[in-house]
Amino acid sequence: MPGSKKRIGILTGGGDCPGLNAGIRAIAKTAILNYNMEVIGIKDGFLGLIENRFLSISYEDVSGILALGGTFLGASNKANPFRHLDYKDRFKDVSNRAIENYRAMKLDGLICIGGDGTLNIAYKLYKKGVNLIGVPKTIDNDLRQTEATIGFDSALITATQAIDKLHTTAQSHHRVMIIEVMGRYAGWLALYSGLAGGGDIILLPEIPYDIKKVCEVVLKRNQRGKRFSILVVSEGSRPKDGDMVVRKMIKDSTDPIRLGGIGSKIADDIEKITGLETRVTVLGHLQRGGEPSPFDRILATRFGTESCELASNGDFGKVVVLKSNQIKAVDLKKAVGDIKRVSLKDPVIKSAMAVGTSFGI
Ligand code: F6P
Repeated sequence: MPGSKKRIGILTGGGDCPGLNAGIRAIAKTAILNYNMEVIGIKDGFLGLIENRFLSISYEDVSGILALGGTFLGASNKANPFRHLDYKDRFKDVSNRAIENYRAMKLDGLICIGGDGTLNIAYKLYKKGVNLIGVPKTIDNDLRQTEATIGFDSALITATQAIDKLHTTAQSHHRVMIIEVMGRYAGWLALYSGLAGGGDIILLPEIPYDIKKVCEVVLKRNQRGKRFSILVVSEGSRPKDGDMVVRKMIKDSTDPIRLGGIGSKIADDIEKITGLETRVTVLGHLQRGGEPSPFDRILATRFGTESCELASNGDFGKVVVLKSNQIKAVDLKKAVGDIKRVSLKDPVIKSAMAVGTSFGI
């Protein structure tokens, strides 16, 4: 209808993280203030799209939420319109139903804030005719094409502060302290928090470790009078002759594997081999909670405003990314599929090695 307002939808998919509310706020404020659009929030990620649950978002609704953790829209890291568990416990493709709901909501476009799983689904919906734009978020920082994702910096601060706290108690009790951090199949969070927190040994999924080398480092430190050691271990780490440790399987999740437990395995091995008292802290979902860092608030705002501009120009099938401190738009197709993993040649690894950090090899 000529002159009628455009309607833009927002959903937050996958595991939550700090900075999602800042992203929603940026999209909604830009849409309302600059493009005179109506804004619709889809509840609980793709589940809301499947079940037709949504709400209208006003300027007032997004006022005062910049610093709030979580997502006021709710999220789901299981919902997938292409693989939906029905009441008879069978998987069904309900993407047509999701698209019908999108049309019934009279949306001109949908902005999906999500990680690898969410953006994969977004790309499939785009190929089926939905006007989609992606905004990258994940504490794992494992999305291709972008140098940063919403949530990573805040999780990095949480993990670094935890390592700092472990340092003092490790020193008092002359213990080996292991901290297991999240990150799934990518070691960015372990690498960056390990470097920022001065971890003596950092173990990553991308660099399978040799437990003998790990123990050598711990024992050498003891001989030098450093009677404690800090190990920062990514949940996806594995020994060079072994596998990742799976904590549980969640069958209706897009990626059913939940990692966890490698820290305890390494602690048992270290105690057995060195005789040194070892303790484990699993940081878990604390990394996804709390307020977003200033960096994440700014990134979410920049991603949000840019994604809204793309929507107003009808430039769909894109994801906003950060490259050399510039916000760019790249094809969704290029951003999904493989994840971005740490390379042994990464300059951050080189710096860490230069200051004596071991990677267990
Ligand atoms: O992808 C984000 C993440 O927090 C991973 O680092 C972690 O492996 C996973 O999600 C945990 O998922 P859940 O919230 O289902 O336990």
